[in-house]
Amino acid sequence: MNILLTGGAGYIGSHTAVALASAGHAVVLYDNFVNSSRSVLAALQTITGAQPVCIEADVRDTARLAEVLGSHSIDAVIHFAGLKAVGESIEKPVEYYSTNVQGTISLLQAMQATGLHSLVFSSSATVYGDPQYLPIDEAHPTSATNPYGRSKLHIEEILADCARSDASWRIACLRYFNPVGAHASGLIGENPNGMPNNLMPFVARVAAGRLPRLRVFGNDYSTPDGTGVRDYIHVMDLAEGHLAALDFLTHASGWHAINLGTGQGHSVLDMVRSFEAASGKTVPFDFAPRRPGDIAACYARVDKASDLLHWQARRDLATMCQSTWHHIQSSST
Ligand code: NAD
Ligand code: UFG
Repeated sequence: MNILLTGGAGYIGSHTAVALASAGHAVVLYDNFVNSSRSVLAALQTITGAQPVCIEADVRDTARLAEVLGSHSIDAVIHFAGLKAVGESIEKPVEYYSTNVQGTISLLQAMQATGLHSLVFSSSATVYGDPQYLPIDEAHPTSATNPYGRSKLHIEEILADCARSDASWRIACLRYFNPVGAHASGLIGENPNGMPNNLMPFVARVAAGRLPRLRVFGNDYSTPDGTGVRDYIHVMDLAEGHLAALDFLTHASGWHAINLGTGQGHSVLDMVRSFEAASGKTVPFDFAPRRPGDIAACYARVDKASDLLHWQARRDLATMCQSTWHHIQSSST
C-alpha cells in the first residue's frame, strides 16, 4: 500500500516508517519539522536503503495535503502530526488546538476531497484521565485535565462523528501508553528539543553525563515503591502496532479505539535500575515533590489489540533501555 505519514519525521513516525518499509509498503512523509530534524531523512535512507519521500508542509494546508494524497495515490493515512507537551499546552492552548484539532480537520477535508477513508490516528492514554481502575480497558471513561489531552479527546470524538455519518470511514484511534526506546541501529530515536520532559530521555542523559541528576517526582504514591508506575512500550513494538492496524482496516469499517501498551506497569525506580544495568552507568537521583497533574499508576489492558489486530508487544524493559542507550551514544543531543 501507499501510506502517508503526517508527522512522519518525528519520534514515532520515523520508527513506523521503518516498520512499514520493511513490510514492503511505500511511505510518504509529510512534516513541517517544527519538532524534528531533517537529518532523520538521511538516517532513514541508511536504515531502509532507499531515499525517503518527504513533503515539507503543514497539515493545516488542506490544498497541499489533497494534492499529495492524489499525486502519490495514497491508500491510507497515519496521522502523527501534532504538538505533545502537556505543560506547553497549558501555556499555549490556541497553538495546541490549532495544530492538533484544526490540523486533523484539515486532513479529514483533504481525505474527503480525494475519496480516501482509511485513517490511523495517534491518540494517547492521557484520554483516560486519572484511572478509576487498572488495567485500563478501552471502555474506561474518558476525561482531560489539560489542553493537550482535551485536543486528543476532541479529535477522537470528531473522528467517531465522521464514522457515524458515513459508513465508508475506517478509523483506528490508537491509544499509546508510554513509548520509549529506539531503533536497533541507534540512528533514530527520541531527540527532544531542550530539557526533556519525559522520564526515559532524562534518565539517558543523566547516565551519559549530560545532565547531573534525575529528580524522581514523588515517592509517596500508593504504588509498590512509592514512585509513579507506567506502561512503557518499545517504540518498534508500537510501530508494528500501526502495521497491524492498517491491516485490520482493510477488512473493518467504522471507528475503533485500541490501547497499545504491554499491559505491564513499571515504577520510576524500576526504570532507573534497568537503565543502570543496560548502560553500566550510575543514574544519581533525588526524590522531589510530585509533579502537578501526575497520576500514581497507569497501565493498559491489551486484549482488544490482541483480538482485533493480532498484535502484542514483544520487547522487554532491558531492550527498551539498551536501545535508548545505544541511541544516546550515537547522538549529540
Ligand atoms: P514528535 O514531536 O516527535 O513527532 C510529531 C511530528 O509532527 C514532528 O516531526 C513535527 O515536526 C510534526 N508536526 C507538528 N506539527 C505539525 C504540523 N502543523 N504540520 C506538519 N507536521 C507537524 O512526537 P511523537 O512522540 O512522535 O508523537 C507522535 C504522535 O503521537 C503525536 O500526535 C503525539 O501526540 C502522539 N503521542 C505521543 C506519545 C509520546 O509519549 N511520544 C504518547 C501518546 C501519544
Ligand atoms: N518522572 C520523574 N522525573 C522526570 C520525568 C518523569 O520522576 O524527570 C516520572 C513521572 O512523575 C511519572 C513517570 O516518570 O511518574 C513517567 O513520566 P513521563 O513524563 O515520562 O510520562 P507521563 O506518563 O507523565 O506522560 C506521557 C506523555 C503524555 C502522555 C502519557 C500517556 O508525556 O503526553 O505519557 O501516553 F499522555
